[in-house]
Amino acid sequence: MVCLGNICRSPIAEGILRQRASEQGVVVETDSAGTSAYHQGEAPDSRMIRTAKANGIDITDLRARQFVKSDFKKFDLIYAMDKSNYDNILSLSQNEEDRAKVRMILNESSPGSNAEVPDPYFGGEEGFQHVIDLLEEAMEFVIKRIHEQG
Ligand code: 4NP
Repeated sequence: MVCLGNICRSPIAEGILRQRASEQGVVVETDSAGTSAYHQGEAPDSRMIRTAKANGIDITDLRARQFVKSDFKKFDLIYAMDKSNYDNILSLSQNEEDRAKVRMILNESSPGSNAEVPDPYFGGEEGFQHVIDLLEEAMEFVIKRIHEQG
């Protein structure tokens, strides 16, 4: 799960995926990263930690890191939160195999829409819940895909 800072959208995306997958007995290795290094080593944004907790999701253990080229080798599926993240990830790709792993996360719940998870960083508290609602829905499809593909 990849966003810009790895402190708002991608940590909650990872938190929702690991929790819902575990509840459903689906085994998946999860991780998240940012295309920037702005917040390297930091815990998720306190507003997202708080909103996540209100939704029954604990992301306090996660720490920000930057997306790196070797992530293409390490992971089967790489999800971008918005178009800018998508382009930045692709700019680090080295071959078709790398590129085929990269998807826009909301295309899982709204195929072909190329819809974006809005960046909540500079907005109000309600933006954080909106991000969670969008990602809860998308993760149902991600888990289904992982379950079916094994
Ligand atoms: P994220 O949100 O990409 O969802 O983690 C942001 C976090 C920090 C900044 C921008 C977006 N920033 O400019 O520092």
